[in-house]
Amino acid sequence: MKSFSLVLLVVWPLFIAVNGWPNIRDAPSTTVDIQDGQTGTLMVLPPRQTDTGTKRVPDADHPFIAPGPNDMRGPCPAMNTLANHGYISRKYGVLLCFNYVLLILSRSGITSFEEIIRGTAEAFNIDRDMSSGMAALNLLTRGNPFVDKISIGGVSPFVPPLPGQIDGPETQGIAKHGRVEGDASMTRSDVHIGDNRNFNQTLWDMDLEQLAEFGDDGPDGPATVFNLQTLIELKRQNLESDQVLDPEFAIPIRRLNAVFGSNVTDTDSVASVFANGTTKQATKRIISSFFMNQTFPENWFRAAAPVLGSSIPGEITAALPQWVPGHNDENGVFVADPQPPAPFNISSGCANYWDTLVNAVPGTLADVTGIFKQNVDMLNGILFNASGCSELIAPAGPTNV
Ligand code: HEM
Ligand SMILES: *[C@@H]1O[C@H](CO)[C@@H](O)[C@H](O)[C@H]1NC(C)=O
Ligand SMILES: *[C@@H]1O[C@H](CO)[C@@H](O)[C@H](O)[C@H]1NC(C)=O
Ligand SMILES: *[C@@H]1O[C@H](CO)[C@@H](O)[C@H](O)[C@H]1NC(C)=O
Ligand SMILES: *[C@@H]1O[C@H](CO)[C@@H](O)[C@H](O)[C@H]1NC(C)=O
Ligand SMILES: *[C@@H]1O[C@H](CO)[C@@H](O)[C@H](O)[C@H]1NC(C)=O
Ligand SMILES: *[C@@H]1O[C@H](CO)[C@@H](O)[C@H](O)[C@H]1NC(C)=O
Repeated sequence: MKSFSLVLLVVWPLFIAVNGWPNIRDAPSTTVDIQDGQTGTLMVLPPRQTDTGTKRVPDADHPFIAPGPNDMRGPCPAMNTLANHGYISRKYGVLLCFNYVLLILSRSGITSFEEIIRGTAEAFNIDRDMSSGMAALNLLTRGNPFVDKISIGGVSPFVPPLPGQIDGPETQGIAKHGRVEGDASMTRSDVHIGDNRNFNQTLWDMDLEQLAEFGDDGPDGPATVFNLQTLIELKRQNLESDQVLDPEFAIPIRRLNAVFGSNVTDTDSVASVFANGTTKQATKRIISSFFMNQTFPENWFRAAAPVLGSSIPGEITAALPQWVPGHNDENGVFVADPQPPAPFNISSGCANYWDTLVNAVPGTLADVTGIFKQNVDMLNGILFNASGCSELIAPAGPTNV
């Protein structure tokens, strides 16, 4: 061999070659389980990270690489940012081409249970209890928990349908409306109004009007720091405007909880996850960088202690008592949903678990076998353990929706 060089390529067409190579992953599978031509991967809860202080993120090993045309991105600014920097969905492939060895990097937007937990720990210092709950919810509802893969956007050729197509002919990805993705988001339209997947500048401008009115003063100027009052007014505005504009507006328990935020959902992340870890401030510049550019702001530090979820959500709920789980009727009038049956009405955490298992996790997952069953049971166990419920619920939601 005359020459031997290492070339870094970020070229979409070569991605196909990458994917043919085994992923670098360390979840061991002790028994081989093949179902419908797919090989199952036993999920393993990774250990908690040992280094739990603040540090500058990203490091040199995680540069921003803009997604290519076939890379998946979706409604979650955190997942998009982690994928753009290769904290998740990072794959290597090696291609031998004449005298060259090509090292190929890709950021496809396809990730796994373990990768979400490791990536959110490394980049955002998110505690495993919080990240495993988010990963479990999304893998059960919009991923393929047999092969341990999920798309952070739409349908991908790299995430096969569930074995036997027991949830329809495609696995959708997190951008699909109805199970987790829902109405009254901060920066994404309701699916019945517009684009529910990509950043919407009009919505963000409306959010920023609330910041200009209610925010704290900070290094970027007056009223540029997100505080509790700003989040409350943001939510009030998101809910009020979408209820009027979206004839099919719906905020079932699981969605209202996510809008308000809870320990395993998204809203309080604006304050506790995206804030600069050294100042604890979530500034307009920082949040805009995550939401609009899907990248870490310059000179950003992750949280100084593992993030579990803040106490803000309870305060948001208390400040907006008129917003209860419900939906618009055929006349566009907001009506409350019925309460979950006893004993699942003991707390909002337990009601949330009930709604998720009964209405969002496909019922066909109750009847799976082998590694598929082991994975589903573990993910359900994670949600159950965090719920405060006394009874485990088997998946019972509609399929192919
Ligand atoms: C762990 C750190 C995470 C943070 C900080 C975070 C943050 C956020 C935020 C702020 C939003 C709201 C965007 C908006 O309202 O415009 C959101 C939405 C969303 N996230 Fe995440 N997220 C995290 C983890 C995850 C994970 C692990 C998944 C799934 C794999 C996920 C799936 C979603 C989905 C489906 C939405 C859309 C909900 C909707 O607005 O309709 N998130 N996320
Ligand atoms: C963005 O949001 C505005 C306000 O709700 C809406 O009118 C518009 O249709 C949305 N645009 C897209 C592309 O969804
Ligand atoms: C987003 O990226 C553009 C182009 O690099 C840059 O000009 C802009 O300042 C960035 N905005 C934020 C909020 O980071
Ligand atoms: C985070 O805070 C440090 C000071 O502790 C500051 O140097 C840095 O610029 C801040 N980063 C951002 C993105 O605000
Ligand atoms: C989230 O969990 C932590 C630790 O379990 C707890 O201290 C905190 O009160 C919880 N926050 C909410 C809003 O439930
Ligand atoms: C739960 O529902 C039962 C039966 O309808 C009712 O008796 C009980 O008061 C409810 N509990 C709560 C906390 O709402
Ligand atoms: C749920 O909690 C029980 C009791 O603490 C524990 O034994 C089990 O491993 C937990 N399940 C999961 C999936 O974390």
